[in-house]
Amino acid sequence: MIIESLEKLNKIVKEIIQKIKKEDTIFLFGEIGVGKTTLSRLIINNLQIKNNLPETEVLSPTFNILYEYDVGDYKLMHYDLYRLNKSEDLDQLGIFDQNKNNIKLIEWAEIIKKKPENRLEIYLNYGKTDGERNLDFKGFGGWKGFNAS
Ligand SMILES: Nc1ncnc2c1ncn2[C@@H]1O[C@H](COP(=O)(O)OP(=O)(O)OP(=O)(O)O)[C@@H](O)[C@H]1O
Ligand SMILES: [Mg+2]
Repeated sequence: MIIESLEKLNKIVKEIIQKIKKEDTIFLFGEIGVGKTTLSRLIINNLQIKNNLPETEVLSPTFNILYEYDVGDYKLMHYDLYRLNKSEDLDQLGIFDQNKNNIKLIEWAEIIKKKPENRLEIYLNYGKTDGERNLDFKGFGGWKGFNAS
């Protein structure tokens, strides 16, 4: 679907967070600078608002690989796996270890081979103008068939 602006993106995000549950995973695919962190920021801030928490700054986790947020009675883990090039590094992160009650937003998730059952994959592409993007959704498990209106 075509997203004309950041305002429109924010509307789509509100539909996503209606459905988001702890233990969900969202994979964000798309080339450098297309808007993966921007979309993550909107998801995090909207979840904070929904749970009556103050909105926090959301920085790109490119260098830290992971930033963690309180978004209610659960945590949200925002990953950027761009700098990882070995699957051992990935194993060390323990993203999908048991008993991790949290939402995961993952940029550059291509390296992940063992994917969780309940997940939403979002594909971002540049549009025809500066502020325009193309978004495609691919849902699995509880997210199967998801599409924003
Ligand atoms: N409709 C839109 N959706 C998302 N981002 C947009 C949109 N229009 C303009 N932008 C701008 O595009 C830029 C996207 O940068 P962002 O850091 O989110 O990309 P990224 O995909 O996370 O990059 P990286 O691969 O380096 O992690 C931001 O400056 C954002 O304001
Ligand atoms: Mg990013």
